[in-house]
Amino acid sequence: SSVTAFAPATVANVAVGFDILGFAVEGPGDFVRVEFGEPGVRIHTNADIPTDPKSNTATVGILRFLKDHNVEQGLDITIEKGIPLGSGMGGSAASAVAGIVALDGLMGTGLDRVRLLDYALLGEAVASGAAHPDNAAPALYGGLTFARAGAPPDVVNLPVPQGLLAVIVHPDVVIRTMDARAVLPKHFALHDFVEQSANLADLLIGAYTNDANRFALACQDVLIEPHRSTLIPGFAQARDAAQLAGALAFSISGSGPSVFALATPEDAERVLEAILLAFRRLDIVAHGFLSPIG
Ligand code: HSE
Repeated sequence: SSVTAFAPATVANVAVGFDILGFAVEGPGDFVRVEFGEPGVRIHTNADIPTDPKSNTATVGILRFLKDHNVEQGLDITIEKGIPLGSGMGGSAASAVAGIVALDGLMGTGLDRVRLLDYALLGEAVASGAAHPDNAAPALYGGLTFARAGAPPDVVNLPVPQGLLAVIVHPDVVIRTMDARAVLPKHFALHDFVEQSANLADLLIGAYTNDANRFALACQDVLIEPHRSTLIPGFAQARDAAQLAGALAFSISGSGPSVFALATPEDAERVLEAILLAFRRLDIVAHGFLSPIG
């Protein structure tokens, strides 16, 4: 018998919630199939990812689960990646979440979501050097999540204000999360910290009062974006084009290079086209889609 699970792409950080906020998107995602087989754990995939189970984000948590539950049977694990590698859309988290959900289904263990998240985060640590939960939590819980790393991690689904669509565009360059974390300074100016805190508070107020405008306009990342945007060719042009087309927010999706915008349903298609055109004018291949937030 075999069990297959799907986990969606996610937009981590949501501009002002570095490592703590994220939302799931309706679009690409990863499938992981788990089935009993010969002794040992084997990975089958057509993606360019490690096939050593100890270094694959989808299987690190699985190996720990097998150990914790004294499982002796072997497993064949098939990973079908729909999320481009190094795209900033939470691909490693999606594979890790889908893998552990599939295994839980196959074993019939019925673990609660916090335990599943714990296992999935082991894979995330391998991928990016830090077990940040802001992709894995929304991939597993759906919606818009606040997630605090810890033992156990703390996850809360936040209300999503009505009247906004997310526009996600992936320019075809690869940025490894590890590298995008390495460009960040260790220290930040106090006034920037205060502004970022105010923006995060504003976003949360917007979420809880169903104020789409407040929510979107709060997405001004003064801490991380200035450092990371330099890694994304065409970022400034794409942002300007998005704003001209009516975007209420524009920032980096996770650690990039994907970007996301927020717009009203009336403007969203125009914003998508404007961002795509901005990248293509610079000869950067880009693909994008619209999605509800979560
Ligand atoms: N919060 C993480 C980061 C997300 O920005 O490095 C990575 O997708």
